[in-house]
Amino acid sequence: MSGARRRLILDLDTGIDDALALAYALGSPEVELVGVICSYGNVTMRTAVRNTCALLDLLGRPEVPVLAGADRALAATEAFAPPAGVVRIHGENGLGDQRVGGLCRCAPGDGLALLRAEAQRAAEKNEELLYVPTGPLTNLALALGAVPGLSSALGRVTFMGGALAVPGNVSPCAEANIANDPVAADAVLRGGLRTRMVGLDVTHQAVLTREDTAAWRELGTPAGRLFADMTDYYIAIYEKNNPHLGGCALHDPLAVAVALDPSLVGCLSANLRVDLEGATRGRTVCDPERLRDAEKSCEVALTVDAPRFLDEFRARVTRALA
Ligand code: BDR
Ligand code: CA
Repeated sequence: MSGARRRLILDLDTGIDDALALAYALGSPEVELVGVICSYGNVTMRTAVRNTCALLDLLGRPEVPVLAGADRALAATEAFAPPAGVVRIHGENGLGDQRVGGLCRCAPGDGLALLRAEAQRAAEKNEELLYVPTGPLTNLALALGAVPGLSSALGRVTFMGGALAVPGNVSPCAEANIANDPVAADAVLRGGLRTRMVGLDVTHQAVLTREDTAAWRELGTPAGRLFADMTDYYIAIYEKNNPHLGGCALHDPLAVAVALDPSLVGCLSANLRVDLEGATRGRTVCDPERLRDAEKSCEVALTVDAPRFLDEFRARVTRALA
């Protein structure tokens, strides 16, 4: 392995906490963001592309490639459109209905082409590529079947999704990213790839308050203002739906943080599967058929050093917004 900055690809369904994950990545000097592949979930894939381009422009990084990914779940026949409940959480435009300028640079390349090139580069240089999905696992499931050598280039993939020991957030059992494409998530979790699950077990312990957003506003930059207003919109929904949290959950930025520094979480090693039918559809659960296997493919985060994560979050996001 070389001592160069690690190369990072994000896979975002660019709503509010995905935007925070993007800012976290851009404020992290130890990684180089080499592309963002877009997905559907909080918004349509096309809107995710538009939002990502606009945010990269705002954050002063317009050169980062934005790539189109899947616009629907593996088993879906039509492109995904966010249901009313999701629109309430992330706004009509996915960014808390804040106006984000610079929507001009929207000719996305192909996500699979980027992964092919990066997998080849990683093999040649004997490096590991960081890939962090914070939406449904559709892009990853498709890429594993289409890109030779991807699995070994990726090493262990940290993803945001799932809930092992806590309730779901779209049903009593299911978390949103997994529920949006349970077939893809099941294929990834049972396909031999090494993964690290950053699910609701830990993301509901990582909470941002209005004090933090006020500090961003005081930076006096367009990015600071936009991120403060957008995140206040998200916090307001949490105040209604999850008042016990006292702020909003930092789902997606925690996944990026853990990908960069796995020591932020304590994990259970397990082999997982996803329920595909009935009332528990979308549930992430230990796979009874692989319970006794000595090899466990997934590290499931169950504890988090939330104060240390929040310190990192504040420092890195402030760097990106300043
Ligand atoms: C996940 O679902 C999406 O709405 C969020 O962006 C996050 O990735 C939380 O369940
Ligand atoms: Ca997301």
